[in-house]
Amino acid sequence: MKSWEVYSVFALFFLLTSIGLFFFIATRGTLLVRALSPGSASEKSHVYPIYSNMWLIKLVDFQPIIAAILLFQYRGLVSKIVSELEHSDLRNKKVLITSCAFGNVIPRVVQASLDAGAERILIADIIQNELIHASSKLGKFSGKVDFIEDNATAMKQADGVVDVNVIFFLLHELPHHLKMKALSEAGRMLSPGGKLFLAEFHRPELRVLRALSWTYFKVFEPLGLALWDTHDPVLCLEKMEGWTCERTTYLFGNFQIVVATKQ
Ligand SMILES: C[S@@+](CC[C@H](N)C(=O)[O-])C[C@H]1O[C@@H](n2cnc3c(N)ncnc32)[C@H](O)[C@@H]1O
Repeated sequence: MKSWEVYSVFALFFLLTSIGLFFFIATRGTLLVRALSPGSASEKSHVYPIYSNMWLIKLVDFQPIIAAILLFQYRGLVSKIVSELEHSDLRNKKVLITSCAFGNVIPRVVQASLDAGAERILIADIIQNELIHASSKLGKFSGKVDFIEDNATAMKQADGVVDVNVIFFLLHELPHHLKMKALSEAGRMLSPGGKLFLAEFHRPELRVLRALSWTYFKVFEPLGLALWDTHDPVLCLEKMEGWTCERTTYLFGNFQIVVATKQ
């Protein structure tokens, strides 16, 4: 091997290790440290610093980074939700986005909802900085969008007030009992016939992908693995009754979009 090739291999290794370390510290690492500090528990304890610290939010929120984190399936996943919204009649209806997410999912969902006639969009997040950051992407929709600081697992909204609820990659970050609460709150706030759009990880069909995905979850997001079995969102919704669910999977089953209709 030539010396420049050796340097390149080392440089690549160093770069990937640094990125991995950064994400570990900004996600699970901080949660582990928090868990060791007694008395600091709150309803926000499970939220990673990359979603609460404005500097980190701005550092990470770049479309190519977000696309890479979701193995370049981000666009397809968002497009599925957008296409469902575009084919809905949302005249005089309200759309809720429960929890902010990086990338262009929020502007795309807002645009599609308004194009389908929605009269108002609510964006709820437990972290104020996330709402401020999301609002910076939605300037052209001002007057149509409300930003509310609220907890997906104990929402202040009344029963049946929205017709659509979009939850994009939130469940896998919640402690298991809160996953169920978030789903039950989503159902409580939806009007009859209303739709819940859920984007999430799913158990991959390919063995090699399953092994890589399992390793990723064990290291970075151990709360996500339950979506493969005990907290599979479709099974959870079906157990709650009153839902009709359709699931579409992506990238050999690694991701899923669930469209759940409240009966
Ligand atoms: C949707 S998740 C992850 C999204 C995904 N990793 C991405 O950005 O594409 C991150 C968001 O959920 C919010 N969040 C976490 N727990 C929440 C809760 N209980 N209620 C409302 N929002 C919550 C965080 O503040 C953050 O804005």
